[in-house]
Amino acid sequence: MTNPQAIPSRGEAREKQVQTIFSEIAPRYDLLNHVLSLNIDRSWRRKAVDLLGWERAPRGRFLDACAGTYDLSLELARRGDFEGTVISSDFAQPMLVVGKEKLSGAAVAPVCGDTLELPFPDDTFDGATVGFGVRNLSDLDRGFREFKRVLRPGAKLVVLEFTVPPNPIMRAGYMLYFKHILPVVGRVVSGHPWAYTYLPNSVREFPGPKALAGKLTDAGFEGAQWRLLTGGIAAIHHGVA
Ligand SMILES: C[S@@+](CC[C@H](N)C(=O)[O-])C[C@H]1O[C@@H](n2cnc3c(N)ncnc32)[C@H](O)[C@@H]1O
Repeated sequence: MTNPQAIPSRGEAREKQVQTIFSEIAPRYDLLNHVLSLNIDRSWRRKAVDLLGWERAPRGRFLDACAGTYDLSLELARRGDFEGTVISSDFAQPMLVVGKEKLSGAAVAPVCGDTLELPFPDDTFDGATVGFGVRNLSDLDRGFREFKRVLRPGAKLVVLEFTVPPNPIMRAGYMLYFKHILPVVGRVVSGHPWAYTYLPNSVREFPGPKALAGKLTDAGFEGAQWRLLTGGIAAIHHGVA
């Protein structure tokens, strides 16, 4: 297995390593997700879908990219008045396979595909979400341009992602948790020697909220803005294609 220190920040090698990590941890991903986030991730996903504006097209076609085991896809698909379809794409097939048992009749269609080269024509979707996915992309700008390409004009992209809290005390506690507790719990529960060391490293290297909003704007999204969640542990960015 590759040493996490050696995961490059860009390029094809990073793509392959990220794909391998998620394929390997797929069977334990859901359990770890909820344990490590103390279940707060559920409320974050609710807020992300609240901001999507799916009500504009309740019978529409929505993309959930880097969908993993479908938690964000299902948050939309199970909304009371939603009568549309969620296309859930991910390049780690084991994540899509493991999560399938949760779908039970929901209007969610899995597609194995790379977010940097989305397998959809231009102007396909009425909205898109991506949860804890863009941090893993080897070329974030290219990823955002792909979202812009597949969204219909006026459709919204909502990005849920970890970030680093602005408050120094909160940040110190968060870093302590991320550096020392999360990797140990992650290693024990997932059985993977370093996948959960990659997580804090990737959060540290990721652009802050303002820079991320700038990247959305550069990719052609209008009105890019964000809100911090739970003291700035996570953030939701959104913009209009
Ligand atoms: C941390 S998981 C998030 C899964 C899910 N969205 C959630 O909220 O739980 C990140 C997912 O992004 C996927 N991913 C990372 N880079 C990708 C890429 N370039 N194309 C498609 N999927 C990618 C991984 O395979 C993994 O399933």
